[in-house]
Amino acid sequence: MEIVICSTPEEAGEVAAARVAQVVKEAGPRAVLGVATGSSPLALYEGLTRRVEEGTLDLSEASAFALDEYVGLPAGDPNSYAATIDKTVTVPLKMNPANVHVPDGAAEDLKQACEDYEAAIKAAGGVDVQILGIGSNGHIGFNEPSSSLASRTRIKTLNERTREDNARYFASIDDVPRHCLTQGLGTIMDARAVVLVAQGEGKADAVAALAEGPVSTMCPGSILQMHRTVTVVVDEAAASKL
Ligand code: GLP
Repeated sequence: MEIVICSTPEEAGEVAAARVAQVVKEAGPRAVLGVATGSSPLALYEGLTRRVEEGTLDLSEASAFALDEYVGLPAGDPNSYAATIDKTVTVPLKMNPANVHVPDGAAEDLKQACEDYEAAIKAAGGVDVQILGIGSNGHIGFNEPSSSLASRTRIKTLNERTREDNARYFASIDDVPRHCLTQGLGTIMDARAVVLVAQGEGKADAVAALAEGPVSTMCPGSILQMHRTVTVVVDEAAASKL
């Protein structure tokens, strides 16, 4: 695990974008990105957007697979991860919407939707570079503490801390969904490279547990210690407990 500590969140975004762009270029025009929602990767996406606009990065034939989606939000809800990925990834990075996939949290058969999602990732040749944030409780995707380290895409119940953390996007905490579909830790571990970004003091405990704690279901992100090609890019506040 390579850990890069940057002096500002902006610098962290740029360093992370450079790493993702490098892997994408090595993978070729049909590269497969794994993409995350949340505030953490926004500076990274801005760095990629700048490269697309300058013409040094072309994602028009690339694909993307999102990590997770809420269950039960109406189609087109601005808080759905499908809408978020469209706004932060597909449009600014000039990707083909047909190549950008998000688990279907509105499917009638959610179990089948999870199996289909795993099959689609496989059919695309697997993820070349997975972009990750980390929850304050150490979750990656929506793999909450106690998630199986070998898990695949499945239905999960969100824990209260995550619902509280994400309530800022909703009118009230009662509107935050209670369930989600998420790629499993085993799915995430299949990516050929991982770039995890975290900023701010609120992530310091999670980053320390991820990088230096025991590999444990209590910090799902700690499984990344077992991955061969992980870059963790943090600002000084998020690195303060390392
Ligand atoms: C959400 C997402 C994660 C994300 C995390 C951190 O619950 N499912 O993929 O990494 O929370 O969010 P943020 O980056 O806004 O702190």
